[in-house]
Amino acid sequence: MKYFRTVLWSLATLALAGAALLITLEAGRDGIREVRYTGEADIRSEFTLTDHTGRKVTQRDYSDRWQLVFFGFTNCPDVCPTTLAYMASVLDLLGSDADRVAPLFITVDPMRDTVPVMAEYVSLFHPRLIGLTGTETQVAEAAQNFKTWFERTEDDSAPDGYFMAHGGFIYLMRPDGVFEAVYQEGDQPPEALAQELGEKL
Ligand code: NI
Repeated sequence: MKYFRTVLWSLATLALAGAALLITLEAGRDGIREVRYTGEADIRSEFTLTDHTGRKVTQRDYSDRWQLVFFGFTNCPDVCPTTLAYMASVLDLLGSDADRVAPLFITVDPMRDTVPVMAEYVSLFHPRLIGLTGTETQVAEAAQNFKTWFERTEDDSAPDGYFMAHGGFIYLMRPDGVFEAVYQEGDQPPEALAQELGEKL
């Protein structure tokens, strides 16, 4: 049963990702091909959470910057640390343009990822990285607005007997909270993403 639920979740995720990532190439006026995303309209940055300094925040607190958003949890053995290290490299490569980006790490495991746990964890990756946690309801609402997913999975070998399965996209959101693009660690070197962001910001 557990297995089937995981499979169903995966299929649902693929469907959502497919909707978000369906890319159409259209011939522009000058014959230059434009990349367009469809299905992104439903993805929005909207949340009420607490940052790693204990401050209550919403997406409006970051409306002067673009947002680079990743969901995960501090006990994650692989995807989260590699993705956060990747984001840290991109921030360094952006140089002064990094001022125009709010890098946000939103936990999907708020029970364990309290404010002090988040503070210590984000400091391992980058001084600019902002950790966000909240109640289970607040986290679920944030994930829903970003159309991402997560699920607690019991596993005797994991710390405290469980891990959190979760989506692996890095979201680039415009200052007004509107979706711009998604990326995944491993799809392009940090230099390529930094260059792309540098052109967008
Ligand atoms: Ni993870």
